Amino acid sequence: MTTRLGALRAEYLSSLRAYLEDESEGGLAYAYEMGRRAMMARLGLLDMAALHRAALDTLVLPATPSDQPRLMEASTAFFNELLAPFELSIEGYRAALAASEERFQLAVSGAMAGLWDWNPQTDEIYFSPHFKRIMGYEDGELPNERQAHFDAIDPQDFEHVTQSLKSHLEQRHRYDVEYRIRTKSGEIRWVHSRGQALWNEASVPYRMVGWILDITDRKHDEEALRASREEMRRLSAHIQQVREEEKARIARELHDDLGQQLTALKMAASLLDHGAGDGRKWPSHEALSGIYAMIDELVRSVRHIAADLHPVILDDLGLIPAIDNLADEFSARYGIRVIRHIDPDAIEFNRECRIDMFRIVQEALTNVARHAGATEVILDIVRADPHCIVRVVDNGRGAATGGSKGRHSFGLLGMRERAALLGGEIRISTEPGAGFALTAILPLTAVETRGAH
Ligand SMILES: Nc1ncnc2c1ncn2[C@@H]1O[C@H](COP(=O)(O)OP(=O)(O)OP(=O)(O)O)[C@@H](O)[C@H]1O
Ligand SMILES: [Mg+2]
Repeated sequence: MTTRLGALRAEYLSSLRAYLEDESEGGLAYAYEMGRRAMMARLGLLDMAALHRAALDTLVLPATPSDQPRLMEASTAFFNELLAPFELSIEGYRAALAASEERFQLAVSGAMAGLWDWNPQTDEIYFSPHFKRIMGYEDGELPNERQAHFDAIDPQDFEHVTQSLKSHLEQRHRYDVEYRIRTKSGEIRWVHSRGQALWNEASVPYRMVGWILDITDRKHDEEALRASREEMRRLSAHIQQVREEEKARIARELHDDLGQQLTALKMAASLLDHGAGDGRKWPSHEALSGIYAMIDELVRSVRHIAADLHPVILDDLGLIPAIDNLADEFSARYGIRVIRHIDPDAIEFNRECRIDMFRIVQEALTNVARHAGATEVILDIVRADPHCIVRVVDNGRGAATGGSKGRHSFGLLGMRERAALLGGEIRISTEPGAGFALTAILPLTAVETRGAH
């Protein structure tokens, strides 16, 4: 470095001296050429300043004060030419630096962002390695061509993306879009893309830089949240409706069943009244036994209505006897055998979980009766530490898994809600023609009396 500078020093001194004599264009061109060589030799601006300073000491300082201003001015012009190549290259550096700075800023703005840098004039585009990774490609795999990304945009979102891009480039509206892309493996992912164009004085965009973020997980969460809100809304509307229907049903049963029986009882009693006094033995044995039968029927009806509202047996005898009773009634009513694997002593169920567990089994059996066309049901209630497993499996026609969740189907939804309240979950395994298996997996801590086992 020092020797290169030493050689240049002598050259600079003699060429400046020559220039100060005739101030020719050729002298200035020579200064420019020296500057270019100095730059190639990796000399810096400080080296140039030192060079110039030494030359001034030799050529300008000793001159007469009257000559000095002209010599100073001419030396400065010469020096400026020497520096011109440096300035040009600094401009270049600055532009490159600005570009990388911008990319860096974008990278920092989202560590997970995939960057793109597009020249709308030439259509050249740069995709960062992470951009390609979001699209499922290795760095070398995806060509740096805009079309390569456009082809991956889901057809449903294509119009939206191209419109946003157009309105950004033409009207300078924000470019901030979310859209789906098809990755290399064919998987659909959601991305969030933002970008900013740069326009020249003629308002022609000459560059656009931006990033994409993979927001698939967020989209799925949003979707799940929306779906569960919608489900909750439907469920609570359904609960209202069920309440109304329940009231109507009880009113009807009271009216039709109890009402009629009471009317019949009243008529029987009034017949007794009319029969009184005609000299026969009163009241006759037949008349009385008819009335007793009516009263028995009334009691049965009241029990039936009450049991439907709340299975009293659940409170009196506990969960397993209540479920046993339910299964017996189910078999008697629908002619479907219920094979039970229940160890009544395996789990000491607490009071709080009883009604939820009972309703889960009840709804599962109701579904068998309504949808399965089965001849047999296997009902298991077993202990599998740390869980209690309740399983209802039928040999009926089954259903398509993940099939249509009818807008008006609330049975499974209600079962899931009840299982979730107990900290557990419901799993379903079914196929058309292969029966329907419903499993409730419930933590023992939620269903068992504290301290049992
Ligand atoms: N054991 C079963 N066998 C075959 N399909 C079943 C069975 N259980 C449920 N399904 C299917 O799952 C669907 C959803 O059941 P779910 O209990 O949620 O609703 P539902 O019984 O139709 O109506 P409800 O809201 O009155 O219960 C049913 O419509 C039926 O298609
Ligand atoms: Mg149902």
